Amino acid sequence: MSANKITVVGAGNVGATCAQRLAEKDLAREIVMIDVVEGVPQGKGLDQWESAPIEGFDSRVTGANDYESAKDSDIFVVTAGIARKPGMSRDDLLRTNADIVGKVSKEIKRVAPNSIIIVVSNPLDVMCYVAMKESGFPRERVIGMAGVLDTARYRSFIAMELGVSVMDIQALVLGGHGDTMVPLASYTSVSGIPLGQLLKQDRIDALVDRTRKGGAEIVGLLKTGSAYYAPSAAAVQMVDAIVHDRKRILPCAAWLEGEYGMKGFFLGVPCKLGAKGLEQILQVELTAAEKAELKKSADAVLEIQGALT
Ligand code: NAI
Ligand code: 2OP
Repeated sequence: MSANKITVVGAGNVGATCAQRLAEKDLAREIVMIDVVEGVPQGKGLDQWESAPIEGFDSRVTGANDYESAKDSDIFVVTAGIARKPGMSRDDLLRTNADIVGKVSKEIKRVAPNSIIIVVSNPLDVMCYVAMKESGFPRERVIGMAGVLDTARYRSFIAMELGVSVMDIQALVLGGHGDTMVPLASYTSVSGIPLGQLLKQDRIDALVDRTRKGGAEIVGLLKTGSAYYAPSAAAVQMVDAIVHDRKRILPCAAWLEGEYGMKGFFLGVPCKLGAKGLEQILQVELTAAEKAELKKSADAVLEIQGALT
């Protein structure tokens, strides 16, 4: 099964790696990359398409500077914007990226009014709000990528610590995509064995802290940009769940309408993703401490959202 057309907006590190991963998984007959820089999406698209005979995929990858070739796309992955530089917080990106994501969302509405938007640009939760507002799409069709990435980081750190396969780590990270994210130790297990039976609390706390700072750790190492291999893999996993109507339960940023006692903003919560996009938000039981942490994270998102309005 594959989509007819998927468009990735922003042909930078995350966007181009997304396009390549989408193509290698044959997730759409056509994959379009759009960027404002002339030649870059076209060049990267052609380069990726030239890898098709070697990698063995049929997805036709192309690049463009306008939206005509994105007409009637089923899914858009929005990575357009500027990336975080060392010393820059995600929130510093707010105004520039809000302007970019707003313009992109209007174009999406114009050329593909029935599409599903997966937002990647930062600050993530608030860029989802901008995309929903400017596209006018219902919440089922605007979903943010952050929880899959944050959970993957948490799972990889736990696997390294225990010396076990990452595939056996199940975990859930909720909340906003920032330092206040909430990795839920109570929902973390190793093949069903609660993490608390395998690791002492101080080690769990250290892994939670590293997860919260996971994005900054990569920025500090790269110095000229932010992470893109794991982020692109996370966005593509969400696309795959939608294209294949898998009904996967993945932590994503979703517009809350009373779930977890909150409404009027995007926050990372467990979501069911299928052909219709966001098909359900699952409400899991939280301890009093976890509820307080989620509230703190929501407040951080609301503060940024408030700065925009
Ligand atoms: P990048 O700088 O490599 O690529 C961004 C691309 O967007 C550039 O090629 C730029 O020309 C393009 N662009 C700028 N304005 C545009 C417009 N109006 N229309 C189309 N394209 C436009 O940055 P990178 O590393 O790809 O990151 C992209 C965004 O994703 C950043 O905001 C970054 O902070 C965010 N990000 C979010 C993650 C998450 O977990 N949600 C994880 C990693 C990155
Ligand atoms: C990350 O977590 C920069 O938000 C991006 O890597």
